[in-house]
Amino acid sequence: MDIKAAQKIVTDLQNLLNQYSYEYYVMDKPSVPDSEYDKLLRELIEYEEQFPELRTPDSPTHRVGGAILDMFEKVEHSSPMLSLANAFNEDDLRDFDRKVRQAVGEDYSYVCELKIDGLAVTLQYENGYFTRGATRGDGTVGEDITENLKTIKTIPLKLKEAVTLEVRGEAFMPKKSFEALNKGKEERGEEPFANPRNAAAGSLRQLDPKLAAKRKLDIFLYAIADLGETGVKSHSEGLDLLDRLGFKTNHERKKCAGIEEVLEYISGWGEKRPNLAYDIDGIVVKVDSLDQQEELGRTAKSPRWSIAYKFPAEEVITTLRDIELNVGRTGVVTPTAILDPVRVAGTTVQRATLHNEDLIREKNIKIGDKVVVKKAGDIIPEVVNVLAEQRTGDEKDFFMPTHCPECDSELVRLEGEVALRCINPKCPAQIREGLIHFVSRNAMNIDGLGEKVISQLFGEHLIKDVADIYKLTEEQLLGLERMGEKSASNLLHAIQASKGNSLERLLFGLGIRHVGSKAAKTLAQELGSMEALSKATAEELTSINEIGGKMADSVVSYFEMEEVQELLKELEAAGVNFEYKGPRPVSPEEFDSIFAGKTIVLTGKLSILTRGEAQEKLEALGAKVSGSVSKKTDLLIAGEDAGSKLAKAESLGIDVWDEEQLIEELNK
Ligand code: IVH
Repeated sequence: MDIKAAQKIVTDLQNLLNQYSYEYYVMDKPSVPDSEYDKLLRELIEYEEQFPELRTPDSPTHRVGGAILDMFEKVEHSSPMLSLANAFNEDDLRDFDRKVRQAVGEDYSYVCELKIDGLAVTLQYENGYFTRGATRGDGTVGEDITENLKTIKTIPLKLKEAVTLEVRGEAFMPKKSFEALNKGKEERGEEPFANPRNAAAGSLRQLDPKLAAKRKLDIFLYAIADLGETGVKSHSEGLDLLDRLGFKTNHERKKCAGIEEVLEYISGWGEKRPNLAYDIDGIVVKVDSLDQQEELGRTAKSPRWSIAYKFPAEEVITTLRDIELNVGRTGVVTPTAILDPVRVAGTTVQRATLHNEDLIREKNIKIGDKVVVKKAGDIIPEVVNVLAEQRTGDEKDFFMPTHCPECDSELVRLEGEVALRCINPKCPAQIREGLIHFVSRNAMNIDGLGEKVISQLFGEHLIKDVADIYKLTEEQLLGLERMGEKSASNLLHAIQASKGNSLERLLFGLGIRHVGSKAAKTLAQELGSMEALSKATAEELTSINEIGGKMADSVVSYFEMEEVQELLKELEAAGVNFEYKGPRPVSPEEFDSIFAGKTIVLTGKLSILTRGEAQEKLEALGAKVSGSVSKKTDLLIAGEDAGSKLAKAESLGIDVWDEEQLIEELNK
């Protein structure tokens, strides 16, 4: 076939498939069965392989995911991606309304929209073609995730008009896709995602677009970045324009004449929320008229014409069937409530930590109780309280054991701690948890080696310490339940790859007492190698910012242990990297700034910068930003309502600045 003939077929196929896709995903009105779509797509792929020059930027074949990237490029946004101020109750909303009225008078209306719980993205179109998409990042600079975004079927690759514009919206994972994804992860022994938002963010931050393509994400667009240039007069007209251009917007939006209607809309969605196919975490209220939006203006962080009402954490009632005991990596024995499975804030919950015995007494929890459960921060399940009035008399008191449920050694309560601990260093539960910690995401990050696989390997005595992980063979892995050849080979690759990790991951993974991931990074950065660290004295260690006496002592005694020396030798022999590979710490002299080399603490409410922004700017000028005030602190930046840190800094005679002074200096 010659290219002319192919051109017609390819264009027809592309248009047809794009039309089917729009009908299916955006309009929710499929006009052909999936099998027909798949057949035509395969045909198109074949033609485009034969005639690559016919693969236009809007070809649906871009949706399957392109080449793997090394990293995401940074993208500076054309206008800042702001966030919204929050309202938590009716008073906050009425306050907001009062301010709007003061600024624009009595003649105004709002648009209420669902606040989609995903992640903000921005999409650029040139002459109607999708050219680039990015994450919000810090609001000014985000990451280029174009290839991943192309895999979202509801993002048009070509608009219905040849316009140049930038649009913003929320990418998210529908509840159904999330459940299917987590089910698969659990079956493979991998760590499930905590909620659909994390799953969506994780998927869009995959460097391999083919993986993102498998994740079934979706998007609602809610704004045009440079709305003024489109000729529309209001936000609601802007949304209609988005619809006309072929974007997917959320149609649950409602124009409200005043705050009473807004409150009604909010209370309605509080109830209907669980029936939605996706998670929402609130309602966004926006002044509709663009002129009025302009009159209201914005603060540094958010527009004054909009507010986000956040729903209170969802609470549900279930039965507490039992209290299970878990021995953690450090020997702490934690009671965990075993619940009748119940859906709350997007996932099914069957366990909730009870922290310690004191909390069980305080909340008067008995086994068999009806309890109220919520997810703290919408992530961690928590027992809020007991419905004592619903007791039948069959409920049982719970008592903490005197001996370790795993190794039977006597438990101790260390001075000043509420927790009970098993202090037997050979306790199998502690060893197993230590292994799980070693392979976890922030430590050696070995993909495919989750809690379940580690427990199996440990249970079968194939690994007894972390060095054994590097001695595993394919044969041993294949002997495990539900481990196929492909998974075994992937796992061995992941183990091999982890040998090259920079030192801080290994340090954190080893689980040295008091050394968290941040301290591990500092130690690795400052000392550079395991060798140097193992020889450092407590004095040398405490001279490093952020490293206190307790941590220094713990590090020194860790390296003094003979078992540790043995373990390190084995790891080294296995080829595990012992050097720091990240950027070298820049010495203060290399910065031309008065902040260089200074230890600075931020406290109180900042109003122009966020804490994160202030920290980033200070660190970029060579400062260390620390969380607590001590004699090592050089400067305290105190925002509004600063409390104990300010008092402490003053008592230690440390310099104190307000935010304005900070900004003035930063601007120099
Ligand atoms: S408007 C200028 N509308 O909520 C403000 N945001 O802090 C632009 N979000 O990160 C935001 N649904 O990603 C707007 N219907 C909606 C939204 C929405 C979710 C997110 C947005 C932003 C956060 C607000």
